[in-house]
Amino acid sequence: MYSIGIDVGTSSVKALLVSESGKVEKSSSPEYDFLTPKPLWAETDPSIWWEATQKAIRSLLEGIDPSSVRAVGLTGQMHGMVALDEKGQVIRPCIMWNDQRSYEECDEITERIGESEVLRITGNPVLAGFTAPKVLWVQKNEPDAFARIDKILLPKDYIRYQLTGDFFTDVSDASGMSLLNVGKRTWSDSLLDSLGWSREWLPEVTESTEATAKISIDGYEATGLPVGTPVIAGGGDCAAQAVGSAIVREGKVSVTLGTSGVVFAQSDQYRVEPEGKLHAFCHAVPGKWHLMGVMLSAAGSFQWFKNKFGKEEARFESEGGPNAYDSLTQGAAQVPPGSEGCLFLPYLSGERTPHPDPHARGAFIGLSLRHGLEHMARSVLEGVSFGLNDSLSLMRKLGIDPSNVILTGGGTRSGLWKQMLCDVFQADCSLVNAKEGAAYGAALLGAVGVGVFDSVESASDQWIAETERVTPGENTKEYQELYSIYGSLYPTLRKTFHSLAERVRE
Ligand code: XUL
Repeated sequence: MYSIGIDVGTSSVKALLVSESGKVEKSSSPEYDFLTPKPLWAETDPSIWWEATQKAIRSLLEGIDPSSVRAVGLTGQMHGMVALDEKGQVIRPCIMWNDQRSYEECDEITERIGESEVLRITGNPVLAGFTAPKVLWVQKNEPDAFARIDKILLPKDYIRYQLTGDFFTDVSDASGMSLLNVGKRTWSDSLLDSLGWSREWLPEVTESTEATAKISIDGYEATGLPVGTPVIAGGGDCAAQAVGSAIVREGKVSVTLGTSGVVFAQSDQYRVEPEGKLHAFCHAVPGKWHLMGVMLSAAGSFQWFKNKFGKEEARFESEGGPNAYDSLTQGAAQVPPGSEGCLFLPYLSGERTPHPDPHARGAFIGLSLRHGLEHMARSVLEGVSFGLNDSLSLMRKLGIDPSNVILTGGGTRSGLWKQMLCDVFQADCSLVNAKEGAAYGAALLGAVGVGVFDSVESASDQWIAETERVTPGENTKEYQELYSIYGSLYPTLRKTFHSLAERVRE
């Protein structure tokens, strides 16, 4: 018996066939591109996701009895706006999470509702990535399309509609729409009324483990999944990724070192960072919430450094030598903590947490004639670690005590970086056996939804195990002192970053 997890990602659909013991038996990830027809825009035609999903499911079912699939769990990129007309046809391409066109509409919504009211109800400021400002943008700029709206869905919920014919979403994904009362876990009528939008447009919202709908005849014909197979609500990709990394209890925190970095903490209560600096969303664990900090260039900063300055290391690699990242980290390991007075600010693509500033930029501070490539490599790793610690510090101030930080993502391959993170965070850090991310979390939610386990916590205990633990070492004190110097850099440089941005725009 299996559970299928499907992650409708930004550039691929990832589908996993997972056994009841948690083993990944098969995976399939058909890729696609998104479009950027204008600066700040990011769009995809949802039919592209649906085609890729059909292909992925068919590939998983090859050679197995389709009736052995007990559940399908869904996850996907958050915040996207998929608009359907009354016949269920897509009205315009999805405006995606990474589309920034609606910044003026964010201000408009905030002014209409009131800043503190928005924060109180939705747990977050209205951000250009979120869904509601996109709807307002369509209302103002594409009135014909707006007039045809009958349903507004998130990306994974469009796939649910194709599989089952039904409209549902889950609380974790719905939290990123700026339309949910995150504390009460229901749509906010007062927000919808203030915006003059119909509640009928929105799908029913449930907890992430609810069995929402079943594979329809059309769904069967498209994928080969038997009619009646339960499709479980699932979650937004960050919440599902966390469930797939055992972040299912208060005090559990994960740090994902992908291109961007995500610091994610489960919270048993609804807590909001007073200035809205952390995202406060419902978790995919029923009745729980989570706080989240997002760093835009985490492992991406080190990738940038390797691509621009590690050309010789890349050449060694292409000639059969060690991996260029390994060569750079080996060099960095020879340098003492603090990189002999060199600090790096990782805001290469602006920042979200804790400085929501598109004009923030990267910097090496404190360079001297003594510094070389290995110092700069180490300072990049250190700067990213400090930046991630900013999110953790905000969480600590809200009463989250990270007893254990689970490290995930490509950046965790480096032993040096793992120990550094542990020293900077001053917390035990662990790696786990589950490395498949959000799709794995969705498969787990699927298994819970059909009763293979009685809770997300017990499923996580059975499927996910610690494989490695790192404890804070001798550099902890040094890093604590350096972190306070790092903390002074952004406030000092903010004006400079903005003056420079003006000149680039001119
Ligand atoms: C979360 C976010 C991204 C998207 C795409 O707030 O913007 O993680 O969900 O992965």
